[in-house]
Amino acid sequence: MSHPIDLAALPHDFLWGTATSAYQIEGAVAEDGRSPSIWDTFSHTPGKIDGDDHGDVACDHYHRWREDVALMKRLGTNAYRLSVAWPRVLPGGDGPVNAKGLAFYDELTDALLEAGITPSVTLYHWDLPQVLQDRGGWPERATAEHFASYAAVVAERLGDRVTHWTTLNEPLCSAWIGHLEGKMAPGLTDLTAAVRASYHLLLGHGLASEAIRAAVPGAQVGIVNNLSTVYAASESPEDVAAARRMDGHTNRWWLDPVHGRGFPEDMRELYGVELPERDGDLKKIGAPLDWLGLNYYFPQTVADDPAGPAPHVRDVARTGVPRTGMDWEVDAGGIETLLLRLTEEYGARRLYVTENGSSYPDVVRADGTVDDPERQDYLERHLAACASAARKGAPLAGYFAWSLLDNFEWAYGYDKRFGLVHVDYATQARTIKGSGHRYADIVRAHREQNRRAA
Ligand code: IFM
Repeated sequence: MSHPIDLAALPHDFLWGTATSAYQIEGAVAEDGRSPSIWDTFSHTPGKIDGDDHGDVACDHYHRWREDVALMKRLGTNAYRLSVAWPRVLPGGDGPVNAKGLAFYDELTDALLEAGITPSVTLYHWDLPQVLQDRGGWPERATAEHFASYAAVVAERLGDRVTHWTTLNEPLCSAWIGHLEGKMAPGLTDLTAAVRASYHLLLGHGLASEAIRAAVPGAQVGIVNNLSTVYAASESPEDVAAARRMDGHTNRWWLDPVHGRGFPEDMRELYGVELPERDGDLKKIGAPLDWLGLNYYFPQTVADDPAGPAPHVRDVARTGVPRTGMDWEVDAGGIETLLLRLTEEYGARRLYVTENGSSYPDVVRADGTVDDPERQDYLERHLAACASAARKGAPLAGYFAWSLLDNFEWAYGYDKRFGLVHVDYATQARTIKGSGHRYADIVRAHREQNRRAA
């Protein structure tokens, strides 16, 4: 192993998982009563997605899920982070339950448990029913309330078997990239809409957490944020202040409220948008979390850009640094820094790395294998950094590799491959990549070590 991983620093019951999300893998967008989501609309809008790709078929997981559970078993993983598609369960957004949609997740849950794999269920990974977008979407308070009703439906159905619940995945992407930058659904570029969406997403988190806890005794409820370490491009006071603003935009805006600290004052001032706050909201948003999820991919280096949109920074590409196929910097130290920051600054009780992974242009060799040394290296470096954080006191309880399968990488379409398992989209053939085998070895080594220690 090129990057030794201190496996002894990880708890015996560590969750070794993989992660996916509904729209990225399921396909079957018009089957069994599912209604369109904002991602169906966005991906079918010409020019929004590289290659005009969309999720109509994706990895056809809706039909091939048994094969995919078998793959998880072959990898030796003991957990799987999936997301439920809101428009499958409540095609009207808030209306009657679609029995067939719910049955899909019910069967999948049973199959996972039978395979010895703990399901970790995310309720919102960006696929808002289009009918709710037509009524205003996340900038409207009603969407947060509908989200809680939907959460209750899913929790009531799966809660006898699922204890591990995530309300939102990466609300930053929904709010900032979807409503401010326009690069994700619903494709708006409106600061007021974005700030209102961010508020209602977090309110939705609070309301849904209550609903899940009411339906599932002993539920473990958390939220998943994509965070970055942020560096200033220079020591100039302007760039240092820019880095502080970027930290607010990327990290503090999402962390402070769910830790009962309210929305950061400096960022409220900077956005200059009145929050649609009502009495009691902040308490609901800040109710104690059972755990916190970190999605980590890359660090950010920024310089002051007074003329640019909020938060008035521009990315600066550092030279001489390795990069993935997404052109994202590889910096494993960042995951350790963030895990320790969540522990020390936010007092996290339990942490999961809910996503971490890399995209590289994989090639299927003549013998049918996929060798991906760069992804293996990325995986090992980041796992080593996670174990180091655990050794220093971060209460890390699990790691979910992004992703189980190559899949629909949003605006980048199918060209960017993050899977530990290669998907041939023409045939839907799955092939475990070298990184998948490496992950399986690491999981096995941890198990072996636990056995010896017992
Ligand atoms: O594919 C995405 C996922 O849906 C959310 N987190 C980041 C991944 C890679 O971009």
